Amino acid sequence: MTLEEKLGQLQQLDGEGNGNFRPEHLDLIRKGLLGSTLNVRGAQRTNQVQRVAITESRLKIPVLFGFDVIHGYRTIFPIPLGEASSFDPSLAERSAAVAAQEANNVGLRWTFAPMVDIARDPRWGRITEGAGEDPFLGAAFARARVRGFQGDDYGAPDKVLACAKHWVAYGAAEGGRDYNTTDVSENTLREIYFPPFKAAVDAGVGTLMSSFNAINGVPASANTFTLTKVLRDEWKFDGFVVSDYTAVKELINHGVAGNEEEAATASLNAGVDMEMVSRSFNQFGPKLLQEKKITHATIDEAVRRILRIKFRLGLFDRPYTDEPREANALLRPESIRLAREVAGRSMVLLKNDRETLPLNKTLGSIAVIGPLADDRRAPLGWWAGDGKDENTVTPLTGIKAKVSPQTRVLYAKGCEVKGDSTDGFQQAIDIAKTSDVAVVFVGELAEMVGEAASRSSLDLPGKQMDLVQAIHATGKPTIVVLVNGRPLSIGWIVNNSPAILESWMGGTESGNAIADILFGDVNPGAKLPVSFPRTVGQIPIYYNHMNTGRPPDAGNRYNSKYFDLPWTPLFPFGFGLSYTTFKISNLQLSAPRIGVNGKVTVSVEVENTGRRAGDEVVQLYIRDPVASMTRPVKELKGFQRVSLQPGEKRRVEFVLGPEHLGFWNREMRYVVEPGEFRVMVGASSAETTEAKFDVTAN
Ligand code: BGC
Repeated sequence: MTLEEKLGQLQQLDGEGNGNFRPEHLDLIRKGLLGSTLNVRGAQRTNQVQRVAITESRLKIPVLFGFDVIHGYRTIFPIPLGEASSFDPSLAERSAAVAAQEANNVGLRWTFAPMVDIARDPRWGRITEGAGEDPFLGAAFARARVRGFQGDDYGAPDKVLACAKHWVAYGAAEGGRDYNTTDVSENTLREIYFPPFKAAVDAGVGTLMSSFNAINGVPASANTFTLTKVLRDEWKFDGFVVSDYTAVKELINHGVAGNEEEAATASLNAGVDMEMVSRSFNQFGPKLLQEKKITHATIDEAVRRILRIKFRLGLFDRPYTDEPREANALLRPESIRLAREVAGRSMVLLKNDRETLPLNKTLGSIAVIGPLADDRRAPLGWWAGDGKDENTVTPLTGIKAKVSPQTRVLYAKGCEVKGDSTDGFQQAIDIAKTSDVAVVFVGELAEMVGEAASRSSLDLPGKQMDLVQAIHATGKPTIVVLVNGRPLSIGWIVNNSPAILESWMGGTESGNAIADILFGDVNPGAKLPVSFPRTVGQIPIYYNHMNTGRPPDAGNRYNSKYFDLPWTPLFPFGFGLSYTTFKISNLQLSAPRIGVNGKVTVSVEVENTGRRAGDEVVQLYIRDPVASMTRPVKELKGFQRVSLQPGEKRRVEFVLGPEHLGFWNREMRYVVEPGEFRVMVGASSAETTEAKFDVTAN
């Protein structure tokens, strides 16, 4: 390969919009100067581009087509934060497999997913794209999604290459403001932000994306510690790293490069292999080699990593996509069925006083109210692939399809999600007054979550809270369904509404899944993968925090708490209700003590004590109460979602070993320290029963 051809493989450029390629890119490809594109899609279009690479370029190296297929391509599944609420990684594996199948058939071979950033700050809009605040849950979902996208072999039909992003600590953006800088200790990196990436690497993920943010003063796209020391030397990752969109050039704004030459030098030498959209590697590579700022070995290694993946993908053998297959690949009935199942298993019942829910399908009349009751876009969320509004089942449609023919379904929008108008209130109040029950759909628009969608308030936007209050004031039972992409501060609703369902942004089948739950065909069993703050002022609030020297105590002023607010969240991590009840009891350990390398089996009985079949997510937490460093008050180390018939009882087992009990100490070594450990098992991070065991030095 000539130097230009090598640098060409390190370049990824964006399409023109709507899946089209840029005509000038064909010329670059012909000359061997472009190895990958993003956003170009469609079997015919990608084939057209590929034909130029295969038949007109000297080396015939195929182009790698990437796209953000985050929670579905055309069949849209719940936002990843919603899927994580299922506490069922096998579901995410299945939904990612459908996404891969659809994407592959439209010519894509690479998805920029899974997004595995831990997020402890719901102001940050991209919390919607990940699995929430916990590294153990995040790792489980990272593994599952990588398996779903890639299978055992990402070169197989219907599979795509995955990309774990954004490496790393992007979710720690200060103030929750997207792209902002981060300051995270190495211990916290290793214990909180790294684990989902490590899980993705161990699951065989082929690529990683370096993030936009700076970490402790060094931008992630020029960070030798994360890109080379951890990723290559410690974890032995042999895939390639693509920068985020123009992140290489942005090193100038970060202030670690004076110009694009310096940006390319810093990024290449730190370990970025492919540059997305900016072109510093290509433009300045030859000059930097001449000046010995970078070496041929560095370039060769990056090229080798990229070509190795292209070979593993089978791109050289099968560069084209079968065009006739595309039409039948999307929105298959089994994909739609799965979307409905996943959505139903991802929605969290937050409150249900006096069995307000489920509703009776033969009820006389129901008022369906709110700006998100019949909205087709919001349920698709951010990064909705090529999801189409016209395929979305809205809650109104889902409810109409569910109730008896005699039931009157009345609808009023009430207000918009944004804006100050209350003109629609009266109509909404009127239909509520003439109905047996009102269901109000409020929350966020898709554009309010995701990238560049940080919020400084977590209240319901616009006049939506006033709408809920106005409907509540009619005296009719008022159920609130939230359609949103992040935790919201909804204290008034929690105190006043009899029933609340967190539906997240549930995807194409959202409306059907909501109706399944509202009318009892599906018994909700999901749990929150992130704490809900009472107000934005509590942030950061996460369950696995460290203790203080003065733990909160209501009776004592000089303790760690707020003057004007309880210190606890509105809803804790792991919380979620069901239409039935469960009892978790009889916690047992297989041994009272183990050695530092030993294992202990923890088991507990879970019983469905109610009258309906349902699911409980049994959660296991540990605490190392005395260690050489402060340890979290609780850390999730196991979870199992179990389905039980009424009266059914089952023993659930977890095995704890050194991979669960250790931590990164002051010398930055992973150690299990002898001493007492506490085990807590329960239905949320705030309701647990406890046992203890000892770890001995050998
Ligand atoms: C986002 C990435 C995404 C990329 C390509 C960037 O702005 O941060 O998550 O993969 O664009 O669309």
